[in-house]
Amino acid sequence: MSKFTAPGLSTDSADKVAGILQERLSALNDLHLTLKHIHWNVVGANFIGVHEMIDPQVELVRGYADTVAERIATLGSSPKGTAKAIESDRSWSDYSIGRDTAQAHLGALDLVYEGFITSHRDAIEKIGKIDPITEDVLIGQTAELEKFQWFVRAHLESYTGELKHSGASGEKEAADAAR
Ligand SMILES: [Fe+2]
Repeated sequence: MSKFTAPGLSTDSADKVAGILQERLSALNDLHLTLKHIHWNVVGANFIGVHEMIDPQVELVRGYADTVAERIATLGSSPKGTAKAIESDRSWSDYSIGRDTAQAHLGALDLVYEGFITSHRDAIEKIGKIDPITEDVLIGQTAELEKFQWFVRAHLESYTGELKHSGASGEKEAADAAR
């Protein structure tokens, strides 16, 4: 239970928001590590384009993790930023693709962004009822992440607007379809 929080917010409400934010902090920490893993493991024809496209995403997502962690502290709770916190907070599995082509990683990364953005939107929905200031932070982040997902999808899109890996249920399936 927090001993202080932002003005105009009860400590009970602040604790609820901080609890939701902790899960998003672990998701952001997992995402920037996953993006670096892709940056290091991508091979093949479009190597340099994808390798270099990923780094600005890493920087942005690391910045978002910092913002969310500091919001948790502002609300009077303690943000957990350790590897163990990522492991215990996450309901998803570790990124499953190793050395692979640009297309395969992008197919799998599209699914990563799909899951992440859906969960960020769920958090917006829950937090919006309690704290519009935190909601505003998450809305801004989601807009940028949706743009990055479009960058990823644009590599996999046909001229008729179809995605090669459409309907894939897991990262490996998406990678196989996109490769
Ligand atoms: Fe690098």
